Order: sequence, then C-alpha cells, then structure tokens
Amino acid sequence: MKFALIGCGHVSPNHIQAALNNRLDIVAICDLVPEEYLKLSGRFGLDQVPRYTDYKTMLEKERPELVAIATESGKHAGQALDCIHAGCNVIIEKPIALSAEEADAVIRAGREMGVSVCVCHQNRFNKAVGYIRRAVEEGRFGRMLHASAAVRWNRGRDYYEQKKWRGTREMDGGCLMNQCIHDIDLLLWMMRDEVVEVTAYTDRLMHPYIEAEDFGMAMLKFKSGAYGLIEGSVNVYPANLEAGLCLFGEKGTVKAGGMSVNIIEEWRFADGKDDPERVKELYSEEMPNVYGYGHTPLYADMVEAIREGRKPCVDGEAGKKAVELILAIYRSAEEGRPVKLPLKETAAADQAGGLFNGRR
Ligand SMILES: NC(=O)c1ccc[n+]([C@@H]2O[C@H](COP(=O)([O-])OP(=O)(O)OC[C@H]3O[C@@H](n4cnc5c(N)ncnc54)[C@H](O)[C@@H]3O)[C@@H](O)[C@H]2O)c1
Repeated sequence: MKFALIGCGHVSPNHIQAALNNRLDIVAICDLVPEEYLKLSGRFGLDQVPRYTDYKTMLEKERPELVAIATESGKHAGQALDCIHAGCNVIIEKPIALSAEEADAVIRAGREMGVSVCVCHQNRFNKAVGYIRRAVEEGRFGRMLHASAAVRWNRGRDYYEQKKWRGTREMDGGCLMNQCIHDIDLLLWMMRDEVVEVTAYTDRLMHPYIEAEDFGMAMLKFKSGAYGLIEGSVNVYPANLEAGLCLFGEKGTVKAGGMSVNIIEEWRFADGKDDPERVKELYSEEMPNVYGYGHTPLYADMVEAIREGRKPCVDGEAGKKAVELILAIYRSAEEGRPVKLPLKETAAADQAGGLFNGRR
C-alpha cells in the first residue's frame, strides 16, 4: 500500500516506524521545513524517498493510498479534507479537528469519497486497554456505575517554548485537548454510552504564557444514568506521575495506570473468570515513553480495515466524540454552568473561533 506522511516533527518517527513495521510502501514524506524531513529520512535511511514541502503537489505526483497527517492540531481537518478529496485514506493524529463542524466535514467527506478515516488514539492498542475492553464487551462489569480518567503529567515552559503552536487556541488547545484526549477517548470507548451533560472547570495555574488551559476537571452524566470524572493536569510536580483509568461496574472494578494506561493495578470481578494476579502480570507492559507502542497496531488495524472495507477501530466518529466532549467542557468552564450534549450550534464551542479559516 502506497503511504505518505505530512509533518515530520516530534511524533513522526512513530508513524514511519509503524509504516515500516506494516511493510507499507513509503512513497513520500513532506514538511514545510526541509530540515525536518531531512532529519527524519536520515534517521530511517529513507534518502531515496521523494521529499516535498508542498503536500498538495505530493498528493498529485505520488498518488498515495494512505496518508498520515502529523502536523499541528489546528491544521488536521483542512489537510485531511484535501487528502480525502484526492482519494486518499487518512490516519489523522489526534485530535481529528479543533471544532465539531470540522470533524463532521472530515467524516462526511470520507463517506462521500469512499475512503477510511482513522484517528491516532493509539492507547486503545495497549495490552491493558485491550483486555479491559474485552471485559466490557463480555459484560463482566454488569451495569456501569461510574468511570474516571486522570492524566497527571508535567509540561514545563521549555515544552511550550519549543514549538510556538503549543498551548495556543487556534492550533492546539490545552492539556485536555492535547494530553488528556487519549484518556478521554478510552473512557468513552469503555463506557459505550452517550454523555448527556457536562459540568467543568478549567484554569491556567502554572503557565501564564499560554492561551489555553493547563488544568481541567469535569463531571459527566451518561444517558444510562452512569457518571464520569475527568482530571487533566500538566502541572504535576516535578514530573509525569500517571495516566489512569478506573471503571466501576455493579460486578467489576478495574484500575489501570502507568504513564499511559499501560499497567493493570486492580482487577476485581464477581465472575472469577480469571486470576487477578495473572491478569496484572500478563496485560501490563512498560512503555519507553508516553507515546507507547500503539502506532504499529493502529496502522495494522487501519490497513486491514481498508482492505476489508470495514471501519477502523478508531474511526472519525470516535475522534469527533472526544473533541465534542472537550469542547463541551470548555464551554461549561467558560459559562460556569452545566452544558448538554450533543452540542447545538457548535460554532460557539469552536475554540479556534472560526470555521475553516484557512488553516493548512
Ligand atoms: N498520538 C500521540 O501520542 C501524539 C504524540 C505527540 C503529538 N501528537 C500530535 O501530533 C501532531 C504533531 O505534533 P508534533 O509534536 O509532532 O508537532 P511538531 O511541531 O513537532 O511537528 C509538526 C510538523 O508539521 C510540519 N507542518 C506544518 N504544516 C505543514 C504543511 N502544511 N505541510 C507539511 N508539513 C507541515 C511542521 O513544519 C512540523 O515539522 C499534533 O497534532 C499532536 O497533537 C500525537
């Protein structure tokens, strides 16, 4: 399968490694800044692979079947639309878009063009997460009562100074939209339920020089009557502490932690179907960094989905759900009141303050 990458920055090696691990035919890489694509091609010995600064020319000349988009978050939707209209399947780094309208437009375009849209929430492929999801699908929790997602990380001034787009409203968002979104996706995936109301606070406690939040907390009400809690911070002293997910059902309790929901810490089920100690041992894995190992299996799933004409595990709708919830959190925090979902007239919740304002 002919593969191309747009954006050769920090996360790009994970994409090239995943493409190589899945034996994709890397036909081109692209970055506005030549030093970036030179660094990436040097690292992977891809000197023979054509390199571009203009992705539209790349799409036209190389005709890739699958394109990964790993540029600044505010550019994802516009670039995805261009790729989809060129007939390409797309893997979009999270978040799928910074507004619900843009996410909808990407989903709609994919449907109309008959191509697949996948969003890079790779933590779904962590061993621990996969085993928890299996327990959910088997109904082992009974009725779900509540769930919580907590990202307790640390990002210093150097992180925000390294790339000017970080922490801006137009291109990034804050700790909820950037860091916590993985955990929010997992919470929604496990609950298999619709959030109907959100009450939230956000703040900028330690990083006065960024526009968006460095702290956020939210209480969720689900359609089934279950509840959810979200806690996101990049202010945890002195370094990343954990990204955790807890699920509380009538007949089951699970607590997962580690730096990115990669360790099963508690496993308690009424059915006694498996040995908790064995589960903790078999389904916990150490990660080299917070990105984890998920890009390769996410690519494998997407390639299989394209070949089989099915939806990928993390499709555009899943990407939109996480974004819409975060936008509802932003709105609730801003207006100081509970906010109902789905968001009506989401223009007001468009944190970038404008639809398709030419961000590419
Ligand atoms: N899934 C994960 O775990 C994970 C981890 C880190 C980052 N991300 C996401 O990946 C995205 C990129 O993050 P990053 O840290 O790699 O950013 P980065 O700033 O290091 O890299 C982005 C690159 O895109 C390039 N670019 C921008 N516009 C372009 C265009 N029109 N054509 C070609 N190249 C263009 C920039 O020059 C830059 O080199 C963000 O959306 C971020 O949220 C995801």
